[in-house]
Amino acid sequence: MRYLDVGATPRISKIGLGTWQFGAREWGYGEGYSAREARAIVARALDLGVTLFDTAEMYGFGRSERILGEALGDQRESVFVATKLLPVLPLAPVVEQRAVASANRLGTRLLNLYQVHWPNPLVSDATIMRGMRALQHVGLVGEVGVSNYPLSRWQAAERALGARVLSNQVRYSLADRTAERDLLPFAAEAGRVVIAYSPLAQGLLSGRYDRANRPVNRVRAGNPLFLPENLDRASELIGVLREVADAHGAAPAQIALAWVIRHPAVTAIPGASSVEQLEGNVAAAEIELSDSEYAALSAASDRFRPVTGRAAVPAMIRGRLRR
Ligand SMILES: NC(=O)c1ccc[n+]([C@@H]2O[C@H](COP(=O)([O-])OP(=O)(O)OC[C@H]3O[C@@H](n4cnc5c(N)ncnc54)[C@H](OP(=O)(O)O)[C@@H]3O)[C@@H](O)[C@H]2O)c1
Repeated sequence: MRYLDVGATPRISKIGLGTWQFGAREWGYGEGYSAREARAIVARALDLGVTLFDTAEMYGFGRSERILGEALGDQRESVFVATKLLPVLPLAPVVEQRAVASANRLGTRLLNLYQVHWPNPLVSDATIMRGMRALQHVGLVGEVGVSNYPLSRWQAAERALGARVLSNQVRYSLADRTAERDLLPFAAEAGRVVIAYSPLAQGLLSGRYDRANRPVNRVRAGNPLFLPENLDRASELIGVLREVADAHGAAPAQIALAWVIRHPAVTAIPGASSVEQLEGNVAAAEIELSDSEYAALSAASDRFRPVTGRAAVPAMIRGRLRR
């Protein structure tokens, strides 16, 4: 495993584990997964040197935090646990109460990273960060983070906190490179971290899915990338992933992750539906892409133009009606 060099303790692994899947019905992995597989995934991740575990109070309405806390058990102190505040009415006292509730579910007295899940359009960062500052002061929160923040609000949050807001957790993969515009340059320059969520584009970049084999669950039914037309459009990118993967004796998903974490300020937090996937994802930390491989993947990603936003709405509605 490789680790980020940002002065965080414990160190943050370049490949972490996303745990939205734990106990969240929308992924459809079932009770057996929550009761057994999720715990086995965490245990194996610990064995393999993963230190970054990401959850949120809203995943499974607290179940993800509970499952993760139980699975970490007495190893809790040696890892970097990140959770997120659902920013509904995030006044300072509410932020403080919610952090305590998350810590209780996780069975911990320290949230290594406490993130604001989305920017609240109505409540300013000054208000939210007042709560965060109090939490850092009493020692319940180590580092503060944000998620889905544009650069201007990330920087405003830092000014409001009067200290570093260590990370911004955003979607980043070969299927969505918006973060490259200004978040990655800022993170690299300022010693901050971009935590890449959906680094496999929710499984699209594994190459497992196509028009004839679409995933069935609510999360991906709501993701336009899995529209038949977009699966067709992704085939060239998947083809390049396969070529590079073959050269490394690896799987396309591993190459997609190796591409994401090649940037020094990035750590990725793929979710996993099995221990085997987790093992593959962790092994991606050891894959060194050459400059030409990186360029070929980036160029294929540039050519991938999925139908998204308003243009995708009619097809999404047709898909829902058919289900
Ligand atoms: N801050 C936010 O707003 C936000 C939003 C989304 C996610 N997140 C965080 O980011 C984490 C990851 O994002 P995500 O779950 O949306 O997407 P992801 O990590 O890109 O995709 C995860 C899915 O990809 C498949 N997969 C994983 N490893 C694989 C492998 N080695 N080979 C083949 N398939 C593999 C699995 O699905 P199948 O096996 O079912 O295909 C798995 O459930 C979440 O768990 C959560 O912690 C944060």
